[in-house]
Amino acid sequence: SNGKYIVYHGLLCPNKCHSYESLKYAEELKVNDDDIFVVTYPKSGTTWMQEILPLILNGGDLTPVKTIPNWDRVPWLEETRTALVLDHQTSPRAMVTHLPYHLMPHSFFSSKAKVIYVTRNPKDVLVSSFYFHKMANFLDDPGTFDEFLDKFLSGQVIFGKWTDHVKSWQNSDLGDRILYVSYEEMVKDLRGVLEHFSCFLGRELSQEALDRIAKHCCFSNMKTNVMSNYSLVPQEILDNSKSSFLRKGIAGDWKNHFSPEQNAKFTAVLKEQSKGEDIKYNWDE
Ligand code: PPS
Repeated sequence: SNGKYIVYHGLLCPNKCHSYESLKYAEELKVNDDDIFVVTYPKSGTTWMQEILPLILNGGDLTPVKTIPNWDRVPWLEETRTALVLDHQTSPRAMVTHLPYHLMPHSFFSSKAKVIYVTRNPKDVLVSSFYFHKMANFLDDPGTFDEFLDKFLSGQVIFGKWTDHVKSWQNSDLGDRILYVSYEEMVKDLRGVLEHFSCFLGRELSQEALDRIAKHCCFSNMKTNVMSNYSLVPQEILDNSKSSFLRKGIAGDWKNHFSPEQNAKFTAVLKEQSKGEDIKYNWDE
């Protein structure tokens, strides 16, 4: 639709930051055993993890998150900037990706690389994405909320259907290489989640360091961090007069947007799409 996207294995990707070359690069990337991937469906906590991961990996030193923009700190595996960024990264490398399981780099599957998969209530994902489409000039206008809801349910959005993404990673069979966490758990108890992360990644952190990371990564603080709030991106690309990238940062904002009818439809369609797959989600959270 009007030249804003490319289609890669059936997946819609914005061509502002994705190209066939960059997706090919991702496919062929030589994955290291100590690589760490944060995997998300869009609007599920990617930016948050780009803040958290470097802090956990460097013992809570705030310098990188205060001096390096998030896209150069923890690059996207599939984007056009990745090759450049990875060239300068020291080990262990941390990357984020929106790719479904089967489109991960070939060498990922036989590696020991770890994955943190972050899910978010899809109703809140939809709301967040709706506002993001209003501000992001490299994406199609979302239309009305009702129209956008239908697009989301039918998977005519970037990175496809939410249920396909979640299912692909839920069935990934990565054993103890993957840690599942929800955005809602992070909102409720970031400090506790940080302990899970540090344990999963084998990084011991002092109580003091964990406190510092939790404090630094709270929504209000990240919202004012220019290295993390996307204010460095020109207005023509991300129009901050329409919405903010770090918009609200809460769980349950869908309740302010969904009509009872939309809620019933959304729940019914997603339950149908996840049939037999047991996607564990508290839809009413
Ligand atoms: S993207 O485009 O996929 O990279 O977007 P992503 O970063 O995954 O999702 C953006 C939403 O995450 C919220 N966010 C946070 N919430 C709580 N605390 C912190 N620290 C935080 N950082 C980012 C951000 O506000 C977007 O959600 P909404 O609901 O729109 O506010």
